[in-house]
Amino acid sequence: MQVLVTGGAGYIGSVLIPMLLDKGYEVKCLDRFFFGKETLNDVISNPNLELIKDDIRWFNPKILKDIDVVVDLAALSNDPSGELDPAKTFDINYLGRVRVAKLSKEYGVKRYILASSCSVYGFQDVILDEKSPTNPITAYAKSNLMAEKDVLQFSGSSFTVTVLRQATVYGLSPRMRFDLAINGMVLGLFKNKKIPVMRNGEQWRPFIHVKDTSKAFLLVMESSEDKVNGETFNTGSNNQNYQILPLAQIIGEALPITLKIEWYGSSDKRSYRVKFDKINKTLGFKPDYTPKEGALEIYEALESGRVTDSIKTKTVEWYKHLLNIYATVKDVAIRDTIL
Ligand SMILES: NC(=O)c1ccc[n+]([C@@H]2O[C@H](COP(=O)([O-])OP(=O)(O)OC[C@H]3O[C@@H](n4cnc5c(N)ncnc54)[C@H](O)[C@@H]3O)[C@@H](O)[C@H]2O)c1
Repeated sequence: MQVLVTGGAGYIGSVLIPMLLDKGYEVKCLDRFFFGKETLNDVISNPNLELIKDDIRWFNPKILKDIDVVVDLAALSNDPSGELDPAKTFDINYLGRVRVAKLSKEYGVKRYILASSCSVYGFQDVILDEKSPTNPITAYAKSNLMAEKDVLQFSGSSFTVTVLRQATVYGLSPRMRFDLAINGMVLGLFKNKKIPVMRNGEQWRPFIHVKDTSKAFLLVMESSEDKVNGETFNTGSNNQNYQILPLAQIIGEALPITLKIEWYGSSDKRSYRVKFDKINKTLGFKPDYTPKEGALEIYEALESGRVTDSIKTKTVEWYKHLLNIYATVKDVAIRDTIL
């Protein structure tokens, strides 16, 4: 069985692809490699892996021939990066992903899974399930929601479409991201002996370990069509909804450093508490990891020097850097090779 993973060299993809290869799948990874392809170094020599450097906005659809499943992860992957150039965010995160889904159907791919986000719920006081109203606040969240709506319309008897609204991810990955809440807390404590906490600390967020969210993609791929076709699943678990300040205290307790809080930012408008009953009851999904375990593995990796906080680990900083280069180049053909 052949799987195409877009954005496969990213934070989630570089954890998911080794899992797919371990299970014997043949994998094609379509990625611009904005963060490099060395994130897949551990599996690069696997004969079942093929890397394709291309863009979801303009790749040649012939690569979809003989693909059974598409896992569509490619995107500008957080709110601040999405705000740098909202038009580009819509082009990639909305139009680009709808293009992938449409072409997948045309080329006879059987399944398509969209990596969306619980950020589509925005700021809401109630506990949210898949039927709750959405309230996307940022260009990132809006493009996720627009992509969800359009790709679900392609679903039919010969094309299974599923949307996974992932919680905020944490844990160690070959493409490390310290812009994610738990990962950033661990880095702060490791480097400055202080946990950065966004004001006012009462905002709710759901979380999921990167290996668990990867497991969810696998589970959806392998579930019977009638359970997943045309469906949207919040991806996480009820007991990993946290308010940010108590979460910082949990992370602090997990690590061998005395906890000190460093407040930053103005009051976070994004607060959401999410119900994950559907993925649990329909597919039996349960996470294997907790924030404590995720924090500890990151701390140990930082301590041993296996991981550092280079600019590429701060997603928005890296995209800002690429956009600065983009702005200095006049030739359109070359500009497109930058971002
Ligand atoms: N990490 C999280 O907490 C989280 C939570 C919810 C949803 N998501 C979604 O999951 C997906 C994967 O997230 P991630 O954390 O692995 O992000 P990431 O930034 O680490 O990876 C995204 C990958 O997509 C590639 N890419 C970006 N634009 C591209 C384009 N136009 N064409 C081809 N490749 C392109 C990048 O090079 C990168 O390798 C994204 O859609 C993200 O929005 C992530």
